[in-house]
Amino acid sequence: MITRLFTAYLRQQKQLGVDDYILNKDLINLLSLKRVNTTEQTTASLDSKTNQQAAATAIKEAVKNVVSQKKAESSSVHTRLASLRPLNTIIPSAQVGSKTVEPPVLEQSKREALKQLYINGCNACHLASSRNRWVFGAGNAEAIVMVIGEAPGAEEDEQGLPFVGAAGQLLTNMLAAINLNRNKDIFITNVLKCRPPANRSPESAEIQLCTPLLCRQIEIIKPRAILLLGRIAAHAVLGISESIAKLRSKVHDYNGIPAMVIYHPAALLRNAQYKRPAWEDLQKFQALLENLGVYGLPK
Ligand code: URA
Repeated sequence: MITRLFTAYLRQQKQLGVDDYILNKDLINLLSLKRVNTTEQTTASLDSKTNQQAAATAIKEAVKNVVSQKKAESSSVHTRLASLRPLNTIIPSAQVGSKTVEPPVLEQSKREALKQLYINGCNACHLASSRNRWVFGAGNAEAIVMVIGEAPGAEEDEQGLPFVGAAGQLLTNMLAAINLNRNKDIFITNVLKCRPPANRSPESAEIQLCTPLLCRQIEIIKPRAILLLGRIAAHAVLGISESIAKLRSKVHDYNGIPAMVIYHPAALLRNAQYKRPAWEDLQKFQALLENLGVYGLPK
């Protein structure tokens, strides 16, 4: 029966002068159904029991191949699409009874969200015209701690990276002293993303224009704790205009995230008398992280 069907099919394809789209070449060869005028010979060869078994196995094999090929094609298409568009834009909304059910809104990864923010760039204030490079921030998008400084200095402006000068070196050591790895555990940024000319203090209009970007970074990273370096960072994030002496040594709250203020490393470089209180504050920050249970989380 199978033999007759194949034979008829191939004869018809040949008469129409079109290629064979159903049977694959291997199968045809195996069945000795070469697309030439060998119908009689083919029929004879397929009539033996052995050849019928071979035909059945070959058909199974061919179907298996086609199915797995289709699966591979469709999964590679999905992978490509998924990397181009968020899934919720691919899955259409569905009608269930009288209700339209929207597809789930899948959260973008923190890294992707930060990358997008970086790509968007910022020209919100006049500092954009005097900067060499803007200093968006650096570190782990999944960081447990966000460290926030004041504004980039000359070296940061050159390299486009935060805390790469002398104060940065001290900061790296301070963090290491409480077991925090700058690249794995932390995301470091500043209140201002562009260097104020001649390293002057940030103006309040600049802070106001730059703070939404900082808030968005915190919102994306969702750190377990925030370390604020110096008065400017403390004022911008906490919205309290107190002296650093009053702000340090306490646990504050930023939208449910515990935040502590310590002396800015640049102040420690200028003023050795701040080193002791800064070390005490760092130890308190470490105790806070221990209480939050965030030490030893997978990095
Ligand atoms: N001081 C800061 O506040 N930020 C830096 O990035 C460098 C120095």
